[in-house]
Amino acid sequence: MNLKEKESRLFFHTYKRLPLEVERGEGCYLYTKDGKKYLDMFSGLAVNALGYAHPAIIKAVDEQVRKYTHLSNFFIQEPQIQLAERLLTLSGFDKIFFSNSGTEAIEGSIKLIRKWGKQNGKKIIFGMSNGFSGRTMGALSLMDKEKYREGYEPFLPNFDSIDFNNVDDLTSKVDGQTAAVFLEFIQGEGGIVGVTEEFVSALKSLREKFGFLIVADEIQSGIGRTGKLFGFQHFDIVPDIITVAKPIGGGLPVGAIIGSKKVADVWTYGVHGTTFGGNPVACAAGVATLDTVMTDSFLKNVVANAEYFKAKVVEMEAKIPVIKEIRVYGYMIGIELTIESSSIVDAILQKGVLVNSTAGNVIRILPPLIAGKQEFDRLLTVLSEVLAVTS
Ligand SMILES: Cc1ncc(COP(=O)(O)O)c(C=O)c1O
Repeated sequence: MNLKEKESRLFFHTYKRLPLEVERGEGCYLYTKDGKKYLDMFSGLAVNALGYAHPAIIKAVDEQVRKYTHLSNFFIQEPQIQLAERLLTLSGFDKIFFSNSGTEAIEGSIKLIRKWGKQNGKKIIFGMSNGFSGRTMGALSLMDKEKYREGYEPFLPNFDSIDFNNVDDLTSKVDGQTAAVFLEFIQGEGGIVGVTEEFVSALKSLREKFGFLIVADEIQSGIGRTGKLFGFQHFDIVPDIITVAKPIGGGLPVGAIIGSKKVADVWTYGVHGTTFGGNPVACAAGVATLDTVMTDSFLKNVVANAEYFKAKVVEMEAKIPVIKEIRVYGYMIGIELTIESSSIVDAILQKGVLVNSTAGNVIRILPPLIAGKQEFDRLLTVLSEVLAVTS
């Protein structure tokens, strides 16, 4: 029985796996057991910011596993303190809670908001249409997509959804009862779609009027991916809560809720917790990631390479009619096609490059942040070969 057959026998059939058996990774590349090399422009779903086998991650993990791999949150742990200090100093926020994943950061935020809402007479929590918050019941309650919600009803009470970028819908729904509005300033799963300035400005003035909380879901867009620490920093707004995960554990599982002064005193001893959250090895790898990524020159490179890639795709657009639009926010890149994108993504994989298909017709590209011009050139070559066949 080969691995594919074993997988199918052993696992719930929740994942459609890629037809690759990876042996190891190095930099932006994956090497398979059959001796092939793949350029990974998806970085484990925006997790592997420093690619594979980065020396800073190896060093941080190696040093920490020799000390302790787990203690429980009964203990103060130095790697947690170091990661917390960095995230709070960089963001200017006040308090942090470490979880294991993105969806847990969302779930914890919902709990934080519910308590804050009880203290402030507010109860309705809004998500956005086409948003993605994760797979727990709280996260699903924030979402509107049937694809993820179907069959899991009933969802949590006092949740509703706002049409993303629809100012009229936003204005007609939020009021004095509103406890919070969750949003990805750049929707990832939704197809790499940015919020409009107009929507942000309306959200900001409605918050002033009604006093609700704004939660920026930076799980996919955070930690340098868009060329800034957080995606919301491209807009004229500061949220009240930030959720992060994916790259902040340097490839190991960790997530975080980052709260402003407004919510700093809501939680008291014992009201929220986790066994594994803030794992010291993951936090040590996270510190190495942040220290590498959060320098001016590193982030300038991200922006410059992304702009280079965008300009090349725009040139290609003139010759290849199936390209409808390219949307670039640093290394969060969506190429919208006039045709469905999954067969295109399969054809790109056949040529040795990994990207992803989302929202039906969008090629989603989430390269490791260490990807350079050479990697984008390779992707451009493959992209033009594959898309040329469709024209
Ligand atoms: C914007 C956003 N929020 C939340 C999540 C959920 O994170 P996780 O898969 O770590 O639970 C994701 C995952 O893709 C995401 O992209």
